[in-house]
Amino acid sequence: MTMTTTRTALITGASRGIGLGIAHRLARQGFSLTITARDGARLDAVAADLRGAGAAEIVTVAADMADEDGLDRVLAGHADRFGAMSALILNAGIGTASPIAADATTRRFDKTVAVNLRAPLRLIQGALPMLRAAASADPARGAKVVALSSITGVYAEAGLAVYGATKAALVSLLTTLNAEESGNGVAATTLAPGYVDTEMSAWIHDRIPPERMLAVDDVVEMVDAVLRLSARAVVPTIVLSRAGTDGYRA
Ligand SMILES: NC(=O)c1ccc[n+]([C@@H]2O[C@H](COP(=O)([O-])OP(=O)(O)OC[C@H]3O[C@@H](n4cnc5c(N)ncnc54)[C@H](OP(=O)(O)O)[C@@H]3O)[C@@H](O)[C@H]2O)c1
Repeated sequence: MTMTTTRTALITGASRGIGLGIAHRLARQGFSLTITARDGARLDAVAADLRGAGAAEIVTVAADMADEDGLDRVLAGHADRFGAMSALILNAGIGTASPIAADATTRRFDKTVAVNLRAPLRLIQGALPMLRAAASADPARGAKVVALSSITGVYAEAGLAVYGATKAALVSLLTTLNAEESGNGVAATTLAPGYVDTEMSAWIHDRIPPERMLAVDDVVEMVDAVLRLSARAVVPTIVLSRAGTDGYRA
């Protein structure tokens, strides 16, 4: 294990969409990154781009967030190379839309809970020693945990029961993390955006065209701002609503 003074981040779901946008922003700032997703070939291609964009070092670990061994490999990959962790970005997430009355609603329940809630909990547990180490090395800045919740985790919406429930639980989990760890310099923020224009939201283009969705960069700006806060500040939840809505709809 080697300790380094370069700022380091672990980003889940970093191969496309919001996670890729965050990875590019941090790469340009010279972070060293551990990036993970299931598709290893895509991760390797992304890693080459991120090095070109300015990342100090990139570790790639292909893993399914629903797989316990995969989570261990991701944590070990970061720990072995970097030792400390300035930021943990819990971005990977999945969702299916169906009403509570439909059988389909429970079909992917376990997988959705595993990826959207259990994996973040396990990664926070495993990363805490590294986050505390980064916070002690840079007490003015501290270390940050940022998780992608959803506006449906704050304002429930018809058709998104299980997805919304996992995202609401994520808000609660990170609020508890703040109660336990922000005094040690590890502060957590959940981002709760409405629809963002990525592959994940393509299924609803017939009702909400991409140009009426949030841009990936809108979310990235919030992550960047949170990572620049001092260790004295905690921003628990940031809701990003879409223009043209009442502010409460996905
Ligand atoms: N897009 C939206 O409208 C929206 C709105 C609010 C919140 N969010 C949240 O924002 C986060 C990112 O969403 P996005 O729109 O960027 O999604 P996306 O475009 O579908 O990208 C998802 C990323 O996560 C990885 N991933 C998916 N399932 C995984 C699994 N089981 N294990 C490991 N990695 C996995 C994907 O790579 P692989 O497929 O290779 O694994 C990919 O890198 C999610 O938590 C989502 O719930 C999205």
